[in-house]
Amino acid sequence: MATDSAFQQCINPACGAQYAVDEVHVTCPQCGDLLDIAYDWNRLPVPACLADFQAKWAQRLDPLAFSGVWRFHELLPFARREHVVTVGEGQTMLQRGDGVARYIGLDAGRLYLQYEGLNPSGSFKDNGMTAAFTHARMIGARRAACASTGNTSASLAMYCAVSGLMKAVIFIGSGKISYGKLSQALEFGALTVQISGDFDDAMARVTEVSKRLGIYVVNSINPFRLEGQKTVMYRVLEGLGWQVPDWIVVPGGNLGNSSAFGKAFSELQQLGLIDRIPRLAVVNAAGSDTLFQLYEQGGLRWNHGYPDRQHIADYYGEMDTQQRKASTIASAIEINRPVNLNKCLRALDVCRGVVARVTDQEILDAKAQVGLGGFGCEPASAASVAGAKLLCEQGVIDKSERVVCVLTGHQLKDPGATVAYHTTDQEQFNRVLASRGVSRAAFANRAVAVPNDVNEIVKVVQLYS
Ligand code: F0G
Repeated sequence: MATDSAFQQCINPACGAQYAVDEVHVTCPQCGDLLDIAYDWNRLPVPACLADFQAKWAQRLDPLAFSGVWRFHELLPFARREHVVTVGEGQTMLQRGDGVARYIGLDAGRLYLQYEGLNPSGSFKDNGMTAAFTHARMIGARRAACASTGNTSASLAMYCAVSGLMKAVIFIGSGKISYGKLSQALEFGALTVQISGDFDDAMARVTEVSKRLGIYVVNSINPFRLEGQKTVMYRVLEGLGWQVPDWIVVPGGNLGNSSAFGKAFSELQQLGLIDRIPRLAVVNAAGSDTLFQLYEQGGLRWNHGYPDRQHIADYYGEMDTQQRKASTIASAIEINRPVNLNKCLRALDVCRGVVARVTDQEILDAKAQVGLGGFGCEPASAASVAGAKLLCEQGVIDKSERVVCVLTGHQLKDPGATVAYHTTDQEQFNRVLASRGVSRAAFANRAVAVPNDVNEIVKVVQLYS
């Protein structure tokens, strides 16, 4: 693969500076904006049609064909084969979900759930981490770092442990990460730095510390990571027989996924591999709604690459003055200042996007409905289902449209929220959920307490089954 047909490019059209792929920058050294990975597609061998990628299924013993990310190598051609680090990520599936469709208000057969929790570390992050990690290897990094609400750190720690190529250094906010995720980082041997602050503090510190110590940063500000996350959409198309759905619905935190999805569709259209682009709905938790406030309430737009930066700065200034801090049961998306905001605005522009905002109550009810379908998800992921329901009720999504909700993380990532929802213990419910404005558990499946007596147990089983 000729690496010079891939390069890094600043997304700010007033700058547009380009850098080789073997340079390491967190943001554009000239203007500070975000970087993209760009390609000179004319010099690269791109398949004539998307269905050609299915041929890779016949070569499953080749790790690059086995990986659900790297079997689309031609669409993220920044790395040479020999640099690729894969653990078999991206073996995820698109599943028709008629029960959840009914809950959302969609016609049967119109809703699909993309279960990214089935990745090796249990979240969509592995799609991006394999790409960032591969780049880190390309440039000879010895240490890699991230700030995280838990999933990025679990994924980084896993790639470091499996490959033995780098030491993972992770920064987390104190008390801000669910035990499922924390346990992964600890067990995989990552240096875990707990900062007295939230995700945004951890993000700011990881940037400073990594710059000072020359550590490779793998947060989604890293443009190589987003190249890997594009493949979630390729697999969605594959699951739909290479047809383009009407809507993609995704939770919004640091806005890496939404940015990557917009780039994926924009490139596929540019390459003539799809003839239309789906609409995108990004869903914020109500307690962490920066994008919703800026885009839907404030009218902020991509504006051909010139979003109103003063508007953003004023919003953040006001947030600081009023000491407003993100707070939601969906801890994965508890973020005040999404680093990929500008790229997400671009994606919303390309995909005629909307932004929705859902409460913790709506998130947990949606999560319970997803679970009833047989595969579960963590709270942040269920924001996509809650958002799709809201957008249907508002008439933004029509019940006959084909909708894909991305479920970003596995059910077992945050069992605390699930158990509190289904609990019979009012004290536990109050402590974990009522404190967040969750007043009821409409779809709770409560355990039945029975004396240790066979006749009593038989009675209960007969009554309830
Ligand atoms: N869903 C889950 C399960 C996540 O872990 C995250 C982000 C998101 C959604 C939001 O995705 O940032 O692309 O908009 N988690 C990050 C982390 C921040 O550190 O693990 P996004």
